[in-house]
Amino acid sequence: MLNVAVLGSGRGSNFQAILSALQAGTLPGVRICLVLSNNSTAGILEIARANDIPALHLSQRQFADESAFAAAMLEAFRCAGVDFLVLAGYMKRVPALIVQTFPRRIINIHPALLPHFGGAGMYGMHVHEAVIAARSAFSGATVHFVDEEYDHGSTVLQKEIPVLPDDTPATLASRVLEVEHALLPEALRRLASAPDAHT
Ligand code: GAR
Repeated sequence: MLNVAVLGSGRGSNFQAILSALQAGTLPGVRICLVLSNNSTAGILEIARANDIPALHLSQRQFADESAFAAAMLEAFRCAGVDFLVLAGYMKRVPALIVQTFPRRIINIHPALLPHFGGAGMYGMHVHEAVIAARSAFSGATVHFVDEEYDHGSTVLQKEIPVLPDDTPATLASRVLEVEHALLPEALRRLASAPDAHT
């Protein structure tokens, strides 16, 4: 069983996709035991509460420094029995202590074809604006393991879609999001069904 914490900063549609897969019975071996957000008004926390999943607002601003923040995060994970993390629209860097505590046990979804259009500043709509500005023929989504560098760890799953001639950042974002909603549950399904694959 993967006891999963989902971390997000915004509306939480990728988290909703995971919940829908769980409700449809297509994610055996996965349990969501905590949702954490750096943003107290994030939709992802509302979705968690509406589904009776513990929801926690935890932001570095509440702490004197990163190490105090990381210690509080770790304690929340320990209390909830978390052994795997999913970053679903989490716009903050995960503290190094957390990455070191969960080696190959943290995945992130990124709205582009890594290693392209990743790294510092490449999140949300900025990614799609950069893809359109570069006149790329393709974009897509990537699920990857998280290490200490932004958008850097090895790929779990990736899916490509064409960029259409009349795409705007907004239309591209919405087509990539549809891909994300299938890709993230599929990545979790694979990792939960091959428990050694992430150790
Ligand atoms: C998603 O498109 C996700 O890939 C992106 O933020 C959006 C969150 O949407 N994440 C990043 O850009 C991280 N670098 P959601 O809150 O509806 O799941």
